[in-house]
Amino acid sequence: MPARKILVAVAWPYASGPRHLGHMAGVYIPADIFARFHRAVGNEVLMVSGSDVHGTPITVRADQEGVDPQVIVDRYHAEFLDYWQQLAISWDLYTTTGTDNHREVTWDVWRRLRDHGFIDRQVAQQFFDPEAARFLPDRYVEGTCPHCGYPAARGDQCDNCGRQLDPADLIDPRSRLSGTTPVMRDTEHYFLRLSALQDDLLGWLHTRKGWRRHVLNMAIGFTEEGLHDRAVTRDLTWGIPLPPESDDLGEGKRIYVWFEAVIGYLSASKEWAQRKGDPEAWRGWWEDAAAESYYFIGKDNVVFHAVVWPCELIGYRGLNLPTDVPANQYVTFGGEKGSASRGVGRPVSWYTERVEPDALRYALASVLPEQNDTELSDGEIVRRVNEELVATWGNLVHRVASMTHRYCEGSVPEPGEPDETDRALLAEVDATLGDMDDLIRAVRLRPGLQRAMAGAAAVNAYLNDRQPWSTATTDHGRTSTTLATALGAIAGLAVALAPYLPATSAAVLETLGVATSGWVRPQLVTGHRLPPPVPLFAKMEPLDGDD
Ligand code: MF3
Ligand code: ZN
Repeated sequence: MPARKILVAVAWPYASGPRHLGHMAGVYIPADIFARFHRAVGNEVLMVSGSDVHGTPITVRADQEGVDPQVIVDRYHAEFLDYWQQLAISWDLYTTTGTDNHREVTWDVWRRLRDHGFIDRQVAQQFFDPEAARFLPDRYVEGTCPHCGYPAARGDQCDNCGRQLDPADLIDPRSRLSGTTPVMRDTEHYFLRLSALQDDLLGWLHTRKGWRRHVLNMAIGFTEEGLHDRAVTRDLTWGIPLPPESDDLGEGKRIYVWFEAVIGYLSASKEWAQRKGDPEAWRGWWEDAAAESYYFIGKDNVVFHAVVWPCELIGYRGLNLPTDVPANQYVTFGGEKGSASRGVGRPVSWYTERVEPDALRYALASVLPEQNDTELSDGEIVRRVNEELVATWGNLVHRVASMTHRYCEGSVPEPGEPDETDRALLAEVDATLGDMDDLIRAVRLRPGLQRAMAGAAAVNAYLNDRQPWSTATTDHGRTSTTLATALGAIAGLAVALAPYLPATSAAVLETLGVATSGWVRPQLVTGHRLPPPVPLFAKMEPLDGDD
């Protein structure tokens, strides 16, 4: 199959506070598994994201600390870079929305949309805090969610039910600046004319195949309710300024963070191309109709990625719309959604300091909330690692490598004459790779991992059946065949697990001395000497509850 161009577009985390494991399981780990798989099968992957440095999450935090927003941004951007390093997230580019390039690309999108008639000026009513004498964009207002009654909904969204909100929707609104009840005042803003794009959007949504039901239902439901034009400027001094020719609303207006953050996928692709010295290279992923794009996000971002961003792209004309938006549900901790701004769920760094990278990736990949909200706890992480990863995979590799040393002088033995049972095991590993290929392409990554572990369990069952430790004294040929077969199976499973467990899979393949070529079981080299076996993973002790 010829190489396909795959854009892996990953949600841009607000550089407003530490991220928690829910973000990793919801967005970054799945994106990385998907990207690594597509690279392994030979596709051309472009995986981009960056820190979202604008918006009220940042300024609210800066206000609380009494520092400049840039201080907040620099602190958390640096922290996020450390997460990616620790978790081996294989970005092609991880940038920020604070670059000149991003501002230029945002202005280009703005101008095209304005030229095409999709951005205009409208007078809007917005909350104003009379005590603070300021307009209150987005998260500067809190109140009760009109959809689910959650009392701490924010002006831009409800964290409980995931709905997008307008501050005016909130019941009992209160200003986060002064705690008072805000009043409505007229203010003029630029608007994105979603109402004019709604029919094209709905037509496109109805062509989407294979999307997760909750994503498509939410996008179609939201659009069918009727899209309202959305203000794409805010009364803020932190954010991307308006392009000079549109900067006619008076002082203190900036482009709305959600209008520009989604443009980051495009601007980061362009930055990546510039950096590699081939400035036009981004076009293959954005203009070639055969290219595919997958947007990895949490469910609270569905409307922005399945409605607003596609509308911007339709209005822009000539750029690819998302192939799929495989949004995840939430990972909950003790029944509560982790929330960076509410401090639920410990920071990622707490875990990366205590858990080996691939072990943490395993625990997260095994609870990916692809269908439902999924509960995660420290005990569950330890259990998954010890009872599944170590018991089924780590011990298997170690056992077979040790037996190869004990019974075959540490070299990959002659396969001799494999029988039906030996061939069946290798066929099972090949089927594992085949099934995982289907699952991962369909972004069903959690069942993909289960399939790999079923493959590993099959090797354990095979060994229990063959008992190479018993045949070692009676039948050397049989023992050699068994171990050669088990080593071959392990090589195949290391390929299968590589998107999930990149470091340890690479170590296994190196130990076995095999060259990988694509998504297939590698061939062993008879006589290759295995280094002395080292366990892949340590068994975990219980995680200490307090910091
Ligand atoms: N910063 C947003 C959040 O953390 C996500 C933005 S995704 C983007 O919820 F594509 F819009 F940048
Ligand atoms: Zn709600």
